[in-house]
Amino acid sequence: MSLKRSADWRDRAASELMSGVLSGAGITGNVLVMLEPLPEVAAAVSEAGGQARSWHRFAREGKKASAWVPAGPFAAATLRLPKAKDELEMAVHAAASVLEVDAPLWVYGANDEGAGSADRVIDPLMGPARTVASGGRCRVLEAFRRAGGPRPRGTLNEWRRSTSLEFPAGPREWISYPGIFAHGRVDPGTRVLLAAMRTVRLAGRHVLDFACGSGIVGAFLLAHEPTARVDLLDVDSVALAAAGENITGARLISSDGFGALERERYDLIVSNPPYHEGKAETRGVVENLIRGAPDYLKAAGSLMLVTRRGFPMAALMKSTFKTVEVSLDEGLYRVWFGKN
Ligand SMILES: C[S@@+](CC[C@H](N)C(=O)[O-])C[C@H]1O[C@@H](n2cnc3c(N)ncnc32)[C@H](O)[C@@H]1O
Repeated sequence: MSLKRSADWRDRAASELMSGVLSGAGITGNVLVMLEPLPEVAAAVSEAGGQARSWHRFAREGKKASAWVPAGPFAAATLRLPKAKDELEMAVHAAASVLEVDAPLWVYGANDEGAGSADRVIDPLMGPARTVASGGRCRVLEAFRRAGGPRPRGTLNEWRRSTSLEFPAGPREWISYPGIFAHGRVDPGTRVLLAAMRTVRLAGRHVLDFACGSGIVGAFLLAHEPTARVDLLDVDSVALAAAGENITGARLISSDGFGALERERYDLIVSNPPYHEGKAETRGVVENLIRGAPDYLKAAGSLMLVTRRGFPMAALMKSTFKTVEVSLDEGLYRVWFGKN
């Protein structure tokens, strides 16, 4: 089962404003609807006379996600403002690469998400973007794909970033892409989790790296114990693309929480789980991880996760597992270990 969420006010207000622009735009042909979590924008495209084709980077609520936009050409595109600036830049290039000449791109979102300054990212590629609608603390910017403009970086590969990360056996190349958590570095919480994992028996074990990002936890685990087998799960298909390059041959699972798993049973589930979805803070993913883990563990399997120290996890861990231990307390972080 995927996680159930109620829409953030920003999502609702932004999609309403964008739908209003579409209803007056008189578009025909194929319209690319990018990163929109709610159904209203695609519905507004159809009502205006176009054919909506949605692209989701995140496999939330059972959506089929992919790391790159579908092949064009498109007569128009809408883009729900992404969280990070480099993620916006990549999405604008992706849109431009599949838009017909003179086709519009509409970028929309809340002012406190950075909608007011998105033109700084759009303009260098598309030419000047202007605000065509505002209201409900949101705005819609419009720009056009002009002939003779700069060439968009129109493949995921053109956004690939390679850095060097320190592993137990020395430095190794690490691949990341815009919008991935801890882009090209090891997060301090992840570092504490890695330290705690040294005490766990891993030889020959089947491990799930839940919310794997670019795969740092799984890769360290394999560097420490090459006989372990690691599956990598994340809701972000771009993160999974990076993880697949960083750990070749691992099984990649595009999933919202445990939603895409069926009969899998692991010896260990390990995680540095998320506490945000977009701008909104949430404990939903970590609570579902703890509650759901026993269904995906073998009889003697265990869960290890890192949280911020102040997060009240003890009661939930104790009501889910027979044995609960704090494996490590370090700085701001606490590593929990639960076993039946
Ligand atoms: C705190 S990061 C940890 C990434 C990586 N494990 C690390 O330590 O660098 C959390 C990850 O959770 C993923 N995520 C967010 N919501 C999720 C969900 N509902 N299901 C699965 N993964 C999710 C994010 O895409 C992100 O990669």
